Amino acid sequence: MKDSSLSIELLLKRLKNNTEVHAGYPFNLKFDYQHLLPLLEYAVINLGDPFIDGNYRISSKDFEREVIDFFAKLYDLPGDDTWGYVTAGGTEGNLYGLLLARELYPNGILYGSEDCHYSIGKAARMFRLPFVQVKSQSNGEIDYSALHQVLSTNKNPPAIINLNVGTTIKGAVDNIEKVVDILEDLKIKRFHIHVDGALAGMFVPYMSGATPIDFTRYPIGSLAISGHKFIGTPIPCGVVLARKHQVQSFDVEYIGSTDTTIMGSRNGITPVLLWDAIQRRQHQFADEVQQCRQNAEYLWSQITAAGKFALLNPCSTTVVFDRPSKAIEHRWQLACYNKIAHIIVMQNHTRALLDRFIQESEIAAVNCGACN
Ligand SMILES: Cc1ncc(COP(=O)(O)O)c(C=O)c1O
Repeated sequence: MKDSSLSIELLLKRLKNNTEVHAGYPFNLKFDYQHLLPLLEYAVINLGDPFIDGNYRISSKDFEREVIDFFAKLYDLPGDDTWGYVTAGGTEGNLYGLLLARELYPNGILYGSEDCHYSIGKAARMFRLPFVQVKSQSNGEIDYSALHQVLSTNKNPPAIINLNVGTTIKGAVDNIEKVVDILEDLKIKRFHIHVDGALAGMFVPYMSGATPIDFTRYPIGSLAISGHKFIGTPIPCGVVLARKHQVQSFDVEYIGSTDTTIMGSRNGITPVLLWDAIQRRQHQFADEVQQCRQNAEYLWSQITAAGKFALLNPCSTTVVFDRPSKAIEHRWQLACYNKIAHIIVMQNHTRALLDRFIQESEIAAVNCGACN
């Protein structure tokens, strides 16, 4: 039945209002791509492999390749072995990475912590991968002794390990070095490490003291990040990286390219959005990360100074606190989980906005000039 109350004008008003009081999800809402609006006049679609132009030429694969190149350098993936593409988001990157692992190791077992994003369980179901959930520590990081224990009883089947670089709820980062040590200790030679960096994959390279996401130093098989999170885009997107020599491809005469991606027709506008953001902001990504971290520390300190519970992991901007009232949850669009809620501090979360949240939620006492 047609809803006669729907109008684009009202939708725009609602989107604007809700953008102003959004705190719960890790989306950088501070972006400006107005100059790219003319792209909407074209059906910009990237079909198949980004490294093969193909028959359909209303595409942006040349921009997509530059985006892949930027991320390959960021994570030290050697140029001559680089492969990847711009995905529809972190989930597609996780699906791709775990499908690649399953193709390499058809009898592999998937391991990941209890704090994995639900897309990991979804990949296990889709690709019929046995999935062993490993205990997490209270901060959300994988429990390394539990991982050691579970792998030691299962040394024979190949191990497909999902590592979280920024867990969804607590922003915890699993330590790749410790996981590689466990594999070496148990002499497990057949493994695939997939890094789910959807959330903090963009923080780690710019934070001091972080264990780097480094394809050259560590045997990482694949990595997924989200583009609409830290970079910020009006359309969800992401990037997946893999080692070229491990990627399987199938020729498809109809598109004049190869079938290497999960989707067929892929968004050709999001690679341009990412390319544009990288061109304009890459020199300031480090400052943006630092600003988010400092604001997260501010929020954390305001809550703890009031004698309340708050958690802020290293290499993270996720501040976890006790679940507030339903009204606050709804107004600030908080993502809650059991008894906790969080704010993942992004570029649009200014101190004034955080103060407003603190005051409204009565989570601490602030002197808030911006609230009245
Ligand atoms: C750790 C983690 N992985 C994967 C995803 C899925 O990313 P997307 O929503 O871009 O598909 C999320 C989303 O929040 C996440 O936090």
